[in-house]
Amino acid sequence: MNVTTDPNIDYFAREHHIEGLTSPSLVAIVEHQTGYTVGKARRFLHFQDRINQELLSHPIIRHNAYTAWFREGLQSPEQIRAFIVQFSVFSNMFLVAQLWKTVHADSLEGMRASKEILANEIGVVFRSPGHERPEDKVDRHTYDPELVSSEGTVDGGTFRFRAAHFEWLLQIARKLGLSFNDVGKRRHGTDATLYFCDELVRLYGSENYRTSQAASYAVENWAAAGFWDELVAGFEKFNKHTNAALPLAFFTWHSRLEAQHALHTQEELEELYFTSQVDEDDFIHYGNKMLDGVAAFWNGLDAQRQQLVVDDERKAHA
Ligand SMILES: [Fe+2]
Repeated sequence: MNVTTDPNIDYFAREHHIEGLTSPSLVAIVEHQTGYTVGKARRFLHFQDRINQELLSHPIIRHNAYTAWFREGLQSPEQIRAFIVQFSVFSNMFLVAQLWKTVHADSLEGMRASKEILANEIGVVFRSPGHERPEDKVDRHTYDPELVSSEGTVDGGTFRFRAAHFEWLLQIARKLGLSFNDVGKRRHGTDATLYFCDELVRLYGSENYRTSQAASYAVENWAAAGFWDELVAGFEKFNKHTNAALPLAFFTWHSRLEAQHALHTQEELEELYFTSQVDEDDFIHYGNKMLDGVAAFWNGLDAQRQQLVVDDERKAHA
């Protein structure tokens, strides 16, 4: 939660016992915007307590055994390859879920917000107004994930095949000896990965936009819980002790994106609560279902990396 810079707004929040709301919501209450009342603010804060206790306490947010192992950087090349394959399946299937979310949006604004993510995923580079690059440097800056912006809008941005997140992932895959047809398809996914991808389509891409918003909140909080940083840490260690020189920009770019996104997630939840009728029980139920899907993915990876060790030992003894 952020503290406002306006002392009058802070005073107003304290006076009405609604501290903890983000500043856009407090400003909206002071300005009597439609839907924004002190009573609703108190109900929201109670709902937030429930979310903290009944949703954000999900085991996969509190402890992810796979990423905890991954960040130590002790993977075999085989384990790294297996991870990239499963992640590539998720990365591609996420496009399907994101497209459904776009189609099922309940407002033009919501549809555009979904398109921002979808278009950026497939290769439209974010344009940050005020941070335009000189023309002579544009080419490299429009697709290299080390250099492309992780904030801004796709509106007026440039499409580049090579800026597609999948293509960034493909760069690592190739370095590991995997070809285009070794990654990204359903047939490459384990049951656990496919369960997660299907839950994403069913919940995140749900025709019932309230289900979609609950799933979306869950997914965003999962992402904000720090798994990108753990993956980057593991890859960096792996690169160091194996001299593999894997290009990590896919992961470092997403970790940069996530760092900026955490506050937005909270603001979006408040906006949703104040401007529509949120069924609190449903929100928590579908959010948990989505996190069960997320957990299936990571726990599947954890089982797979352990199985690879068993297989290796068996081969060594054969
Ligand atoms: Fe992405």
